[in-house]
Amino acid sequence: MRVTKLAAMKRARQPIACVTAYDHATARLVDEAQIPVILVGDTLGEVVLGMDSTIPVTLDDIIHHTKAVVRGARRPLIVADMPFMTYQTDMAEALRNASRLLQEGGAQAVKLEGGKAVADVIGRLTECGIPVMAHIGLQPQSVHNLGGYRARGRTADEARELLSDALAVQEAGAFAVVLELIPGAVAAAITDRLSIPTIGIGAGPGCDGQIQVISDILGLGPRQPRHSKQYASLNEEIAGALARYAAEVCGGEFPSADHTLTADQQAIDAIDGAD
Ligand code: KIV
Repeated sequence: MRVTKLAAMKRARQPIACVTAYDHATARLVDEAQIPVILVGDTLGEVVLGMDSTIPVTLDDIIHHTKAVVRGARRPLIVADMPFMTYQTDMAEALRNASRLLQEGGAQAVKLEGGKAVADVIGRLTECGIPVMAHIGLQPQSVHNLGGYRARGRTADEARELLSDALAVQEAGAFAVVLELIPGAVAAAITDRLSIPTIGIGAGPGCDGQIQVISDILGLGPRQPRHSKQYASLNEEIAGALARYAAEVCGGEFPSADHTLTADQQAIDAIDGAD
């Protein structure tokens, strides 16, 4: 999957399904499901590493998990998130950090949060051959500044601000833009005015594509955001399986003969003879 194909999908009005993944096993399954885009998101911090927010996630964390995802998924476009403060301090630092995600992690693109404020970074990364997915609306890395995890774009001022951010990141060269937690009608209006694909999360069906956090749609872990839909109940599945496993070990049912290697008599005699 290439970024140019995503633009073609928008033109053909073919919806783009995207999902996060953080490890080899789930990346393989995402690839098998023919989902075209995987984001190694900094939600890694919350859903895999047990952190309270995405803010403590480091570049090395994302690189480590991107490597695992790349080993598991050959076909999807793999986008790696740039963590908090890895692209804001200065341009050289942003370029170095983004290039590590491609060179060491093996991603094909990076994602960063922000609109006009990061347009110059998007422009420079793009000039250097690094495809950038932008991310506007709710920006979880700015949770303290935005006054919590609240929707954006409900007022006329915020809606206008979102549109000008979307146009700015497009102008700067972003190949797609995530729209997080904004009203469906606002997301649809922005989508109509952009030539690059919009990828919604909590932004309604009017976007060109959708992205979800994999553990939210699989019912794994404590999160269940209102905008996500649960397609499996892995918490219950896994808890049930673990309880059955522990009960069988404690009850002497596992391992049975079926799960036990056999040896020829000589091997047994050798042990007996050693006594
Ligand atoms: O980090 C992440 O998983 C994201 C998605 C929620 C879009 O940014």
